[in-house]
Amino acid sequence: MATQKELFSADLLSPEVQSALPEGYKLRALRPTDYDTGFLDCLRVLTTVGDISKEQFQDRYDWISRQDGGYFILVIEDTNSSPSRVVGTGALLVERKFIHNLGSVGHIEDIAIAKDQQGKKLGLRMIQALDFIAEKTGCYKTILDCSEANEGFYVKCGFKRAGLEMAHYY
Ligand code: ACO
Repeated sequence: MATQKELFSADLLSPEVQSALPEGYKLRALRPTDYDTGFLDCLRVLTTVGDISKEQFQDRYDWISRQDGGYFILVIEDTNSSPSRVVGTGALLVERKFIHNLGSVGHIEDIAIAKDQQGKKLGLRMIQALDFIAEKTGCYKTILDCSEANEGFYVKCGFKRAGLEMAHYY
């Protein structure tokens, strides 16, 4: 199957976030070539990723790209470094419902900023960029799960504690 150059249209990239990033940092959608740009290492800051082959990465990318406006993955690329590398990532899943008059809810997932890049507001910019996509795609709210240790970060991003997470592992 033909592979898109980027996961989704540049119309969904917040110009405000792009202009607020440090010089040489670029906000963009995930690309198939991000297997080799540090995207997976960035996610390793968050949790276990495993040993994913290039083919497995491509298969998952292709599946995500078929989700028809339901799954967005952003990256922040530092083009100052040589070669340029992905230093931040975050995902938004858009759940289209019957309730609330066919309402849509955004789910923020897998936020990760490279260890040596934390504290430069990249996490905040990533959340703002995902919020921009959520609004543009018609979400009436965006929700996420996080640890107590990260609550303060999300409060700074404008979120507030609501509800209680339950989990069933298989
Ligand atoms: N607790 C309280 N405040 C915090 C925390 C924290 N853990 N982390 C950052 N902040 C504050 C900063 O001090 C800053 O405050 P200021 O505006 O007063 O200066 C503000 O939040 C914005 O901070 P950023 O510089 O944007 O944070 P950073 O780029 O370091 O990203 C993040 C924060 C995403 C939590 C990063 O540290 C990281 O990747 N951690 C490891 C992975 C992780 O835990 N990801 C989140 C999982 S939850 C999920 O994915 C839904």
